[in-house]
Amino acid sequence: MSKEIKPIKLGVLISGNGTNLQAMIDRIQEGTLDATIELVVSSRPDAKGLRRAEKAGIQTLTLDKSIYANPEQADLVIATELKQHHVEYVVMAGYMRKVHDPILAAFPNCVLNIHPALLPSFKGAHAIQDAYDYGVKVTGVTVHFANSDYDSGSIIAQRALNVEEGWSVDELEAHIHEIEHELYPDVIEALAQGRVHLEPSSRRVVIDPIQ
Ligand code: GAR
Repeated sequence: MSKEIKPIKLGVLISGNGTNLQAMIDRIQEGTLDATIELVVSSRPDAKGLRRAEKAGIQTLTLDKSIYANPEQADLVIATELKQHHVEYVVMAGYMRKVHDPILAAFPNCVLNIHPALLPSFKGAHAIQDAYDYGVKVTGVTVHFANSDYDSGSIIAQRALNVEEGWSVDELEAHIHEIEHELYPDVIEALAQGRVHLEPSSRRVVIDPIQ
């Protein structure tokens, strides 16, 4: 870890278990991720990830289901809170809501998502099950910038996984998570190091090699 890198300030959006959030917390604590998590926002009050954040001393914001009746209004609340916490990058980690203009406009090209399949295959909320049921021999994980279309923004990184004969869907899920927990912090570290570039007028992302 280079001493000159200024830690980037993250806001993490979750809806559930929060194992990707935990992977970030662990990497920050072990000194291999130059980031701070300024705020964790949950779309669900019962998200286990909220407990993980609290245990790590991270501030949290929980949105009631009713506020999502107006998704733009919900995102305005979230964007305002993230700005108040001086967040630079918004990291979706199992956040099962679409992000809208108030967040995308407040953080242009600075909203990330992780998806448990090789996009553009198996978009949506049940990607692991969908890929398993389809019988694919190779699947994987995608980290991408979010835009106003679900699971469609520029791809930053992907890692493939061979689906071995005889795996249950639970075994596939465990292997997917293992990759996610390594890939997402690695991508965030590349951002912190200023190695991630969105090519102008294209959807292509280039990551400079580690010096
Ligand atoms: C992860 O597998 C993530 O890729 C997926 O939800 C899981 C959240 O796990 N996200 C999506 O499916 C988004 N379409 P976690 O709460 O333990 O980090």
